[in-house]
Amino acid sequence: MNLSRRPRRNRKSASVRTLVEETTLLAQDLVQPAFLLDSDSAREAVPSLPQIERLGLELMKQECDELLQNGIRGIALFPVFDDALKDDQGSVGLNAGNYFYQSLRELKQTFPELVFFVDVALDPYTSHGYDGLLSADGEVDNDSTVDILCQISCLLAETGIDYVAPSDMMDGRVRAIRQALDVAGHSSTGIMAYSAKYASSCYGPFRDAVGSSKQNGYLDKQGYQLNPANSREAIMELLLDTDEGADIVMVKPAGWYGDIISASRSKLQIPIAAYQVSGEYAMIQAAAERGWMDLEAGRDESLLSIKRAGADLIFTYFARCWNGNRS
Ligand code: PBG
Repeated sequence: MNLSRRPRRNRKSASVRTLVEETTLLAQDLVQPAFLLDSDSAREAVPSLPQIERLGLELMKQECDELLQNGIRGIALFPVFDDALKDDQGSVGLNAGNYFYQSLRELKQTFPELVFFVDVALDPYTSHGYDGLLSADGEVDNDSTVDILCQISCLLAETGIDYVAPSDMMDGRVRAIRQALDVAGHSSTGIMAYSAKYASSCYGPFRDAVGSSKQNGYLDKQGYQLNPANSREAIMELLLDTDEGADIVMVKPAGWYGDIISASRSKLQIPIAAYQVSGEYAMIQAAAERGWMDLEAGRDESLLSIKRAGADLIFTYFARCWNGNRS
């Protein structure tokens, strides 16, 4: 054949392929989500999240140590409270003496070079499992919820963690949290806003891990999380949170929302995080368990697609088993 272009020439060996590759995934791009127990040495498997365990404080320290040794720079920590401690107001989240705040303080002191992101939302604390306070009509009430989120953010900032990460999708919370942090003297605590957070089917294993309420299957959060059919609305949310003072914004889930990551890339100057959520991880794990997908290939391809879409940092349950920078 007489071809003017033979693109295969640039694919002919591993070295050539490496030289011309456009996207590289690095350990430093990844943040590990982790679930912290009120215990020293307990370890509990989460059946829907293979290879991820809820850990007590001493084991979490080992985990942090290993992450740093593998070049991972960030961790996103979530609490796990006993159902008996939850109420409809999420009061335990406002108890400055609860184990979570104490453990965070100790972890950050032990690992000052690890960047700690901590969720701000009421779902780990409420008996009903929603991210905010319910009003009489059963909807999550925006403004009273924002008030509590500000208080929780200040309690978190006092522990020394690096970024509070509002994941609740209430309106106006980023500006309110920024003001509350500044007034309380925490102007160096950052805000990583879950700005474009969709009402996704992919959060199930996470809700199992934190023990969220599950009366008739997983909760419906469409009253505040984004409709998967919408992209312009997501861009608006990302711009709003940037305007309100977020330091990093997030798109979540990541894999099915690459279009949102890439569209926001050209519109925003601040870093964009993407969260490969529990259900995305579980799908790859489940297919691999059945022998229907190669685990490492599926892991790398999924993460690469998120980076290629334009994410600066990627929250992923795979971070802990990352074994080398790759493309
Ligand atoms: C809580 C929160 C959720 C996730 C992160 N923070 C679940 C939800 O909104 O119901 C999901 C993360 C994951 O699935 O890995 N607000």
